Amino acid sequence: MIDIHCHILPGLDDGPSNMKRAVDMALCAVRSGTSRIIATPHFKNGVFKVSPEMVTASVEMFTRELKEKRIALDVLPGAEIRISPEICRQLDQGELLPLGASSYYLFELPDIFIKDGIIKLLRQLQQREVMPVIAHPERNRTIMRHPEMITELIFEKALFQITGKSITGENGKLSFRIARDMVKEGQVHFVASDGHSLRHRPPCISDTVKAVKKVGGEKAVRTIFEENPAKIVGSSARDGAMSKRVG
Ligand SMILES: [Fe+2]
Repeated sequence: MIDIHCHILPGLDDGPSNMKRAVDMALCAVRSGTSRIIATPHFKNGVFKVSPEMVTASVEMFTRELKEKRIALDVLPGAEIRISPEICRQLDQGELLPLGASSYYLFELPDIFIKDGIIKLLRQLQQREVMPVIAHPERNRTIMRHPEMITELIFEKALFQITGKSITGENGKLSFRIARDMVKEGQVHFVASDGHSLRHRPPCISDTVKAVKKVGGEKAVRTIFEENPAKIVGSSARDGAMSKRVG
């Protein structure tokens, strides 16, 4: 399985504070059936100062450590980018990291946002051939109040990633209801752990497969856990990612 959103790199954000904890998370992920993780530290969120170079260097160091310890986990660089009015400029200047080497970027909505502003941004991203993956809408305060926005944002080509623990009900009733309805409506493109540590959302998504299956059946499981993540990993901005998009 591929986990496209996980804070597993040591010492970069509020994920593991050191290499040992990061390795423990990797072991937990592998034991639960994950073979590949896209490491997505918080990016441009006003708290942690993380650059693309820092992520790349950290992934290389972590990969060496995993190889030494014979842990079969493939780690790719990525970022969870907080949406701001600066996004397009940052993108144009190469300051943002995609998921792997793809044209998909993971974006985090501000808690409070104006829908029209996000729609405008989505259209600007589309002009740049960026595939926006919106992280955990079911935990966003504005969307929790107005879940009808999800349909409108999908119309604007947004892709949605929900947190595993939302569909299992561990993030509260409202997040569960929104996640469940999204799965039913075919509005979930990815489920990810959003793991931070062994205690705070451990990096396991295998336990969420059952929950997705119960709500959306085998087809939803295949699309969410296999086909869509494989398209991110298999695509890149240079080798024809546009023809392989998740739709
Ligand atoms: Fe996250």
